[in-house]
Amino acid sequence: MAKGPIRHAKTDSSPLRTEAVPQSRPSVSFPSLAEAAPALSVVPNPRRGCPADCYREWVTNPPAPQFTVRPETPGDIEVIHQLTASAFGQVDEAELVDALRASGNRIDGLSFVGVLDGEVIAHAMLSRCFVGEVSGACLAPCSVWPDHQRTGAGTAVIEALLAEAARRGEAFAVVLGHAEYYPRFGFTPASGFGINLHVDVPDDALMAMPLAGEVPAGALAFAPEFGV
Ligand SMILES: CC(C)(COP(=O)(O)OP(=O)(O)OC[C@H]1O[C@@H](n2cnc3c(N)ncnc32)[C@H](O)[C@@H]1OP(=O)(O)O)[C@@H](O)C(=O)NCCC(=O)NCCS
Repeated sequence: MAKGPIRHAKTDSSPLRTEAVPQSRPSVSFPSLAEAAPALSVVPNPRRGCPADCYREWVTNPPAPQFTVRPETPGDIEVIHQLTASAFGQVDEAELVDALRASGNRIDGLSFVGVLDGEVIAHAMLSRCFVGEVSGACLAPCSVWPDHQRTGAGTAVIEALLAEAARRGEAFAVVLGHAEYYPRFGFTPASGFGINLHVDVPDDALMAMPLAGEVPAGALAFAPEFGV
């Protein structure tokens, strides 16, 4: 009779019988940590079987947030609407973005989003405007989710958008907005260039800047969607 601990096993022929269990067990091989490490080092996710050292590293040195700026895609349209309405506290500017996109008065390819860890958190766009007969780019609206405002997202998106507009040969840009915010990009009062608007606005709120060309003088006309 074989030696070893006794256990009971159930079989078809005998509902309950006694048998010996061999002492030598079949060997089971597990992958070594070295073999498992490559996958873990690519995606150190502590929630999926990450070793303790890996978890500690993830907690004490979390990955830096990834922020990128890129042109808007069709998949961004809904979230741009929501973040614009949220940033302004009303839907008017969100509807303006939609209307400029629908009419084609948005300058193609010049609507940019800022993306933080995969989430769209900022948006800015350029639409066609004219000073006299000369075409230019109007910067509006610019929006950042309230939770992310004043973290540099708006500046990053607007800088990238204006740089791309210049690269494409847009001669100049105008903006009607916060007089304390837009000068950082190079905007100065439009009146200084001889630009005028047929409605009264605070002089320092209407601004212009050269891009690939010069800022012309004359009467400014926004796209009709602005209703100005
Ligand atoms: C205006 C807006 C686009 C700026 O983007 P942001 O990511 O919040 O701003 P940034 O972090 O890039 O820049 C922060 C700087 O802008 C200034 N700033 C931000 N919002 C401002 C405002 N409404 N008025 C004046 N300055 C403002 C801050 O004082 C800060 O200045 P600092 O760099 O000297 O500290 C964003 O705050 C927003 O969506 N606001 C609500 C909607 C709006 O007003 N849009 C613009 C219409 S013209």
